[in-house]
Amino acid sequence: MTSRTSTPLPHDRRSPDATSAYHEDQTDALCANAANLTDPKRQSIAVTKRERSMIKGQRPAVIWLTGLSGAGKSTIGNLVERKLVTRGAHTILLDGDMLRCGLNEDLGFTSIDRRENIRRVGEVAKLMTEAGLIVICALISPFRAERLAVRRLFAPGEFVEVFVDTPLQACVARDPKGLYRRALANEIANFTGIHQPYEPPERPELILRTLDGSPDQVADRLLEVIQPFLTAV
Ligand SMILES: Nc1ncnc2c1ncn2[C@@H]1O[C@H](COP(=O)(O)OP(=O)(O)OP(=O)(O)O)[C@@H](O)[C@H]1O
Ligand SMILES: [Mg+2]
Repeated sequence: MTSRTSTPLPHDRRSPDATSAYHEDQTDALCANAANLTDPKRQSIAVTKRERSMIKGQRPAVIWLTGLSGAGKSTIGNLVERKLVTRGAHTILLDGDMLRCGLNEDLGFTSIDRRENIRRVGEVAKLMTEAGLIVICALISPFRAERLAVRRLFAPGEFVEVFVDTPLQACVARDPKGLYRRALANEIANFTGIHQPYEPPERPELILRTLDGSPDQVADRLLEVIQPFLTAV
């Protein structure tokens, strides 16, 4: 039988004998290669996104926190997830650092790798909204084009772009992980704000100015914007 990772030969797609085994074993390959097939058979899924959301009593959403390193994305993401779970919401926090330890461990910080990092997280967030979850993403995501590409994966209103707006000077002063110190000493390369640009959102759904309030106050402001998703209709 064709192995799970190898590309099936064209005759495998046409052969009636090969069809059932092919479809059981090669679903992933089919989806990944759908654009190359003349007649892709997409797997139909019986349970809908709406059903999964109704059970959870909420509407799925992606809360995309973008901003410089040290801006406060993880701090605010964690606080707001805690507040949501306390209210009985079903959530997941996708934190850039965490994902770079697993799913994206093969990626570095060049512009190309940063793009791929964002693309993958967007696709994961998409799957999680299919599960009916409120997905909080905390990633620098420095480039407008990549954030726009992720936005386009979602229905209107489902993607909430949040600019965690902290000036570079303040981030450098905070330097919670000591990364600015190392970047300024050229011990690490491709650091956003030092060696690479950060492109602020032009029309985010929300701007959180972290110099204007405590982390808890800023998280409460975000919670107000998420509140409408906490009912199923
Ligand atoms: N109002 C605020 N909101 C959020 N964080 C704040 C605020 N005021 C001070 N801070 C501090 O700023 C730091 C933000 O660090 P955090 O790790 O959350 O940044 P980040 O945006 O996730 O950075 P990175 O992209 O490197 O992961 C923390 O030490 C936090 O306590
Ligand atoms: Mg972080």
